[in-house]
Amino acid sequence: MTRRLRSQDWFDNPDHVDMTALYLERFMNYGLTPQELRSGRPIIGIAQSGSDLSPCNRIHLELARRVRDGIRDAGGIAMEFPLHPIFENCRRPTAALDRNLAYLGLVEILHGYPLDAVVLTTGCDKTTPAQVMAASTVDIPAIVLSGGPMLDGWFEGQLVGSGAAIWASRRRLAAGEIDEETFIQIAAASAPSAGHCNTMGTASTMNALAEALGLSLTGCSAIPAPYRERGQMAYETGRRIVEMAREDLRPSQILSRDAFLDAIVVNAAIGGSTNAQPHLTAMARHAGIELTAADWTEVGQHVPLLLNMQPAGQFLGERFHRAGGVPAIMWELQQAGLLRTARPTVTGLTMAANLKDRETRDREVIFPVGAPLKPDAGFVVLSGNLFDFAILKASVISPAFRERYLKDGAFEARAIVFDGADDYHARINDPALNVDEACILVMRGAGPVGWPGSAEVVNMQPPDALIRRGITSLPTLGDGRQSGTSDSPSIVHASPESAVGGGLAWLRTGDIIRFDLNAGRCDVLLGEEALSRRRSEGPPKPPASQTPWQEIYRSTVGPLSTGACLELALPYRGVVDTPPRH
Ligand code: FES
Ligand code: MG
Repeated sequence: MTRRLRSQDWFDNPDHVDMTALYLERFMNYGLTPQELRSGRPIIGIAQSGSDLSPCNRIHLELARRVRDGIRDAGGIAMEFPLHPIFENCRRPTAALDRNLAYLGLVEILHGYPLDAVVLTTGCDKTTPAQVMAASTVDIPAIVLSGGPMLDGWFEGQLVGSGAAIWASRRRLAAGEIDEETFIQIAAASAPSAGHCNTMGTASTMNALAEALGLSLTGCSAIPAPYRERGQMAYETGRRIVEMAREDLRPSQILSRDAFLDAIVVNAAIGGSTNAQPHLTAMARHAGIELTAADWTEVGQHVPLLLNMQPAGQFLGERFHRAGGVPAIMWELQQAGLLRTARPTVTGLTMAANLKDRETRDREVIFPVGAPLKPDAGFVVLSGNLFDFAILKASVISPAFRERYLKDGAFEARAIVFDGADDYHARINDPALNVDEACILVMRGAGPVGWPGSAEVVNMQPPDALIRRGITSLPTLGDGRQSGTSDSPSIVHASPESAVGGGLAWLRTGDIIRFDLNAGRCDVLLGEEALSRRRSEGPPKPPASQTPWQEIYRSTVGPLSTGACLELALPYRGVVDTPPRH
């Protein structure tokens, strides 16, 4: 099949012969020949997300060699370029600022340069949604290559997983069970190789969901970064994207509403990160598909937990891969009639065809729908007089927590309110706060505008004194996010956020909040009169922007409920069809 490629508009365009020499010349200075560039071969971008500032994705610096081999063998020409770095753990004030920034940068590259298709190299949390959002805006043939998780971590004979080990050790440190030196040793042990987080945190979740959407080759997301199959997957991905460029198989043909609904189902079944909610919503909106709060409830809430992987379960990434990875999870869901798999994927086949013969080989890790690890593992969506939308990850609610708090799914708690993480750290151990088992810790000022970016700070730990008494977690609520590796039953993403006048702005320490998880309600027990008196006081003032992007971000970002999107970008879709001017 020969179709005219968009790169030929640069390199082989009879209407702009005068410009062709200029377009060609600098690509030759590293050895490419004009014959290659003018031979009608697809030019394939490799969006390189790895760098020293993105260690979770650093494996892609090596994998790119195998991607190039695949591209070359299939008759394409590779052009690798950098993505704005995104590193979850280190970027202050939060890597959430980088998602929309990397998105913007990638849109400009894909639209403005002579590329016919692109390999998206994903790994750390937001590197997946940022690139998928951009591929949708441009609507250029695109394929996701995950970098894969790190090897499993071990410490003193126990599995120690990314993030999960940190949260557990932080509590042991507070209880005086370990010292700081041991804390650091455990952290190091949890990160034993190249790769992204080895728990089902946000990174593994988003890579799994990209695969569930149909954007990567079958079995791609779970292969640990150092495994031989990872390099082989990179090669096959390189080969396949050249064919996709020739077929003009675009994200818009793959990212249907059915694909997103399946991703919601898969997210529940794997015990996926709460961050899946804004990221999947953002990817859907950029693809022109609306995902509503009702979709998470109707399609996701009652899906059972099938994957026994931390933080909702026991194992880490190596066992998940060996058990069959995402296709084995989807195989179970398909058998139970929970998916919509007659839809196209990047393989050129339907998702149903991709899942053929993918039953798991390891029943300790992947459970059947009929006998799951836990029932009803999806997000519980809440609303009430404090916010219109918030979610709670049901799969991490422990039996002890259920027993202590939930009577028919409901409980009441006394609010202890913090204005941002600094305030929490400064005051949490102050005896005057009088925090006990009947309290809920509330974090506000942590949303997209307030932080800015929206921070993973809602999974707050109780005061040290309580931990020493064996109370290792309290209910928490906030307008920010929580780490995907957290085992805390936090109520997160309260929207609208306090900084734009959302209800948490009016909450005060000592107020009683009532939750009813079955009814999906959360309300502060205050009369309308008291509420309106407090509203007249105006919301807490967020800190000033420190950089130009923070200011731009704040002026364009929407709430977490609708994906914290760069709102003005949403009308742009399929911009590949409006060629840039010469
Ligand atoms: Fe980058 Fe978890 S911090 S993958
Ligand atoms: Mg995170």
